[in-house]
Amino acid sequence: MNTQLLHIVQNMPKAELHIHIEGSLEPELIFALAERNGVALDYPNVEALRAAYDFHDLQSFLDIYYAGASVLLKEQDFYDMTAAYLAKAKADHVRHTEIFFDPQTHTARGVPIGDVIHGIHRACQEGPVSATLIMCFLRHLSEEDALATLDAALPYRDLIIGVGLDSSEVGHPPEKFARVFARCRELGLHLVAHAGEEGPPAYIETALDVLKVERIDHGVRCLEDAALTRRVAAEGIALTVCPLSNIKLRVFDTMKEHNLLQLLDAGLVATVNSDDPAYFGGYLNENFVAAFESLPLGLQHAHQLARNSFTASFLEPEKKQQFLDEVDAYFAAFNVV
Ligand code: HPA
Ligand code: ZN
Repeated sequence: MNTQLLHIVQNMPKAELHIHIEGSLEPELIFALAERNGVALDYPNVEALRAAYDFHDLQSFLDIYYAGASVLLKEQDFYDMTAAYLAKAKADHVRHTEIFFDPQTHTARGVPIGDVIHGIHRACQEGPVSATLIMCFLRHLSEEDALATLDAALPYRDLIIGVGLDSSEVGHPPEKFARVFARCRELGLHLVAHAGEEGPPAYIETALDVLKVERIDHGVRCLEDAALTRRVAAEGIALTVCPLSNIKLRVFDTMKEHNLLQLLDAGLVATVNSDDPAYFGGYLNENFVAAFESLPLGLQHAHQLARNSFTASFLEPEKKQQFLDEVDAYFAAFNVV
């Protein structure tokens, strides 16, 4: 493998747009918080918990992911989790991150939504990198539950930039959440949704047409529909691709079969992200390295992916341009235009 290319990819300035903060909870922190909060876990130690990270699809992952999140009870717990992620992001040369959180996972256990949001937000304010918050609705729950969650979050409206849709995809199409997304749109929130990870390309289409999302999370199954691919490219809709996640959850059998390069070749604004780094074997740079080691990606692709990560962000135009200039200056040193 070209070690100079890997070095360039690891050190390039980048944004992360698809990270579930609960998915950054490392086993060591899960055990520390369990002890601090007196929560009983089904596993005797860190090694046993890590050994259970043997997923075969999205649902088998989600079952363990929600169990891990059960140790989060206090505002300080959300702060500690977020501060740990931001330190990792900084080490990976992440300049800006748009962090997903799942309030319903916590409010269902009696945690006040204000504690969830304040804990994450406080860490973001102190954090070493630019960070904003996207509140996700759990699609396996009802739209009424999502609407109630939105109401509960309204006092904290200014602390979040957008909303998303995650959890079990198949059987829970985007259109199930048409009303709540329409309300979020009226509120001026940015809109994203997971679609085309395990679910069919039709879910990408309804996420765009019914929910009116601005980005698609995952979206890798887009390529199964040529007309949809052309549309997503023409409209400049970004896809937040998560390479290690896709292998762990068996969306692709091996990284060599991952379609990241085909997505770029189709003219799509694809980005690389970590999804749930504590569960899928690595943070953002580990995702870049895994993809660049297995796929015929070069310097131009690295430059494109770094640019895409900022282009697809919800940063203000001026800030976005500053980061894009930083990316271009970084790559200028390697004679890439
Ligand atoms: N897909 C759906 N829901 C999720 C994911 C994912 O990859 N990660 C955390 N919640
Ligand atoms: Zn995700």
